[in-house]
Amino acid sequence: MAITRTIAIFNQAGGVGKSSLTRDLGYELAQNKQKVLLVDADPQASLTEFLGLNTDQIEHSLFDAIIHRESLPIHTLHGMDLIPSTIDLATADFLLNAEIGRELRLKETLRPVKDNYDFIIIDAPPSLGNISINVLVAADEILIPVQCEIKALRGTKHLFDTIEKVRLLNPNLKIAGILPTLLDARTRLNTETYEVIQNRFGNRLRVFSPIRRGVAFAEAAARALPVQLHSPRFDGISDIKKLAEGLLNG
Ligand SMILES: Nc1ncnc2c1ncn2[C@@H]1O[C@H](COP(=O)(O)OP(=O)(O)OP(=O)(O)O)[C@@H](O)[C@H]1O
Ligand SMILES: [Mg+2]
Repeated sequence: MAITRTIAIFNQAGGVGKSSLTRDLGYELAQNKQKVLLVDADPQASLTEFLGLNTDQIEHSLFDAIIHRESLPIHTLHGMDLIPSTIDLATADFLLNAEIGRELRLKETLRPVKDNYDFIIIDAPPSLGNISINVLVAADEILIPVQCEIKALRGTKHLFDTIEKVRLLNPNLKIAGILPTLLDARTRLNTETYEVIQNRFGNRLRVFSPIRRGVAFAEAAARALPVQLHSPRFDGISDIKKLAEGLLNG
């Protein structure tokens, strides 16, 4: 099997589409015959719920694997594997403070299964705490979704500073690219922001073609399905396909 690519979907800004993207990108890669593991590293557990697991009924989650060193709980859904999260993970941030090597815990936790996959996609929480640092240390690449809203650009300096600091622990960490999200092409300010994103980052980073705003993404979450299964004719699926192709072609 080819070398595993571990991709963190990361932006400390909330609500930019990270969890939806993890779900749909994972599904698309799996449809392209890739072995995919999704890791829900967010105590909000959106990804877990977006894929239909009831967090109240989950007895073993990422928390137990990271903190109690239990074996990884792997669920198979829609041709992909998922390590679910629960609200317990919120306390992991605090518990890890007391640990030596705390930044490495997720990387170590994933090591036993890593070789089983072509892609491991980690949905990061909207924060810069211990869990987020663990996500960036475990990753080979970061994909940064940026919402096509001017305010979304404000936090990016902090984000890049964090990435630089994490490179002390993970020197080979690559930025796969910036992914403009929630683009409403009918909204002038949105399209202008998309141009700002291209101008600001395009000279040094790959800027992927955007993911449009579409109610089908939110409906898919409510139906606990990847958008491709929920709404196969939705034209926004082509955005996800382009992203998957872009990643597969290097
Ligand atoms: N492309 C899209 N078009 C329309 N709605 C979307 C799109 N992507 C996500 N959403 C909706 O926006 C909300 C936030 O999306 P999501 O949970 O994926 O973002 P997030 O970045 O993971 O949020 P958080 O930072 O809280 O983890 C959800 O209600 C989701 O259904
Ligand atoms: Mg999320």
